[in-house]
Amino acid sequence: MMVARVAILFSGRGSNMMALLRAMESPDFGAVPAILITDNLQAEGVEHARVLGFECHVIDGAGYKDKDSFDIELNRILDDARVDVVCLAGFMRILSVAFVNAWAGRILNIHPSLLPKYKGLNPHKRAIDAGDSHSGASVHLVNGEIDGGKVLRQVKVAIEPDDTEASLSARILHEEHRLYPLVLHDFLKNG
Ligand code: GRF
Repeated sequence: MMVARVAILFSGRGSNMMALLRAMESPDFGAVPAILITDNLQAEGVEHARVLGFECHVIDGAGYKDKDSFDIELNRILDDARVDVVCLAGFMRILSVAFVNAWAGRILNIHPSLLPKYKGLNPHKRAIDAGDSHSGASVHLVNGEIDGGKVLRQVKVAIEPDDTEASLSARILHEEHRLYPLVLHDFLKNG
């Protein structure tokens, strides 16, 4: 079986990255971490990854004159690491259309809503404010529209009457950590 080489890109806490790393520890998973990339040296996830023995590659957005030059450098780093699949996991930069097109069908993202609902920022708050009975998380292919690519799989989470943004996002996050590895595994197996 071919073992896929996976890049994980993150900007913050990195808990989904950690869930993916843990899943890849199993030899049956069919993938290995090729590189961890962050655009934020201060990201909490950098330290979490270090505990598991991984150093992160930092590409500081401030060092690039525009989005295209950042993305060209990102592409070069992914190529050097012989990456097959890119997983965005709380990566807060918007990638250029040229970059996304170059990786079309090989780049995944996780978003904490039942897409196509609540693309973009503050999805938990928007679901609560709308009075929805459920929210959840979606893993999707990345295309040129933010959170707009084909949904591969979702998990539904009930919204309780006393939910706050914090309580709902914590419950959804817990499900995200199961969902993302599952979807990646299926994606690598079945495309
Ligand atoms: C997650 O809720 C993910 O769905 C969203 O950003 C958050 C990242 O959290 N895209 P973490 O950094 O993985 O803990």
